Amino acid sequence: MKLRKALITAGGKGTRLRPITYVHNKHLIPLVNKPMLQYAIEYVASAGIKEIGIITNPDFEDLEKAFGNGKMFGVRLTYIPQEAPLGLAHAVITGESFLKGEPFVYYLGDNILRGGIQQFLNAFHENKSDCHLVLSKVRDPQRFGVPQIVDKRIISIEEKPEKPKSDYAVTGIYLYNESIYEAVHAIQPSPRGELEISDAHQYLIEHNRKVTYSEITGWWKDTGKPEDLLEANRMLLQDVQNHHSGYSDDKSVLAGQVFLSEGSVVENSIIRGPVHIGKNCRILNSYLGPYTCIGNGCEILNSEIEYSILMDDAAIRDVDIRIESSILGKSAVIRKTEGIPANHRFIIGDQSQVQIR
Ligand code: G1P
Repeated sequence: MKLRKALITAGGKGTRLRPITYVHNKHLIPLVNKPMLQYAIEYVASAGIKEIGIITNPDFEDLEKAFGNGKMFGVRLTYIPQEAPLGLAHAVITGESFLKGEPFVYYLGDNILRGGIQQFLNAFHENKSDCHLVLSKVRDPQRFGVPQIVDKRIISIEEKPEKPKSDYAVTGIYLYNESIYEAVHAIQPSPRGELEISDAHQYLIEHNRKVTYSEITGWWKDTGKPEDLLEANRMLLQDVQNHHSGYSDDKSVLAGQVFLSEGSVVENSIIRGPVHIGKNCRILNSYLGPYTCIGNGCEILNSEIEYSILMDDAAIRDVDIRIESSILGKSAVIRKTEGIPANHRFIIGDQSQVQIR
């Protein structure tokens, strides 16, 4: 049966991304000036799937505001609140009224990869699988669901094992036929109190279901921590094209791939791409280095920044050290102290992180 539906997760607290996630749902954090979740929606849409259920926190207004009914992506979005974060298999149970017993693609909305998901759908159909998993080689398999593979067959799966049986992670892209519904109802909560998707996969294996896999050989990341966001941003920036609809003066140099949106102005500055600049920004006497993304309405004056993400309306003014590996939330400002004493002054929210040399 053709895959007509997808379930995408977009809930959770995003605790490791505080303080950003105090204000924003993690899945709305911009990567190359696009909300993270949009990548999942677009990949699913371009695989021809039009019916998408989004598993959310009980409060999902912000997601609905960002993505509406999905029309702009040529899909229909249904928001499905999960009463509490009780696990990824529980999220499937939560989605059952939308899925109606059909096969589906399950996609964790914080997983970022390049190149889309069509190839995985093809493999699922060609193998006539009950469950098709997407694996990626990682350095730290202990953090993930880990398969044991013998003769190119998955013979077991463990969630976050202390002693991983391979150096593969099961990524957050899964393809299922209807056998998954029995599995998610049969398993028991794990020691962390969640219905684990890995336990559902293990159940399928134990019940002789056909569990197959593809390997991602390119780039994949689940974006749990600030450094993951920067890394995902870097990877996605590699596909940015040159586009100069903003203004840059004769004294400025825009080298490499630089996306300069309309209404933005660059004066007496050096920008070395890949860099993506939103609308109505002002960049004056400054240096923007590779892998930097600037949201709409940002200002960078007399400063240097590289490998960083600035959300809308953030500003860096007259800072005489280069800022790197940094994430600035909406309207956040870093600026030189005026007057005396010439000290550092901070007003930073709960769980913010500042590193000074
Ligand atoms: C979840 C799954 C895990 C999978 C990972 C991929 O982990 O439980 O099996 O490898 O997503 O992103 P969690 O993000 O809940 O730690």
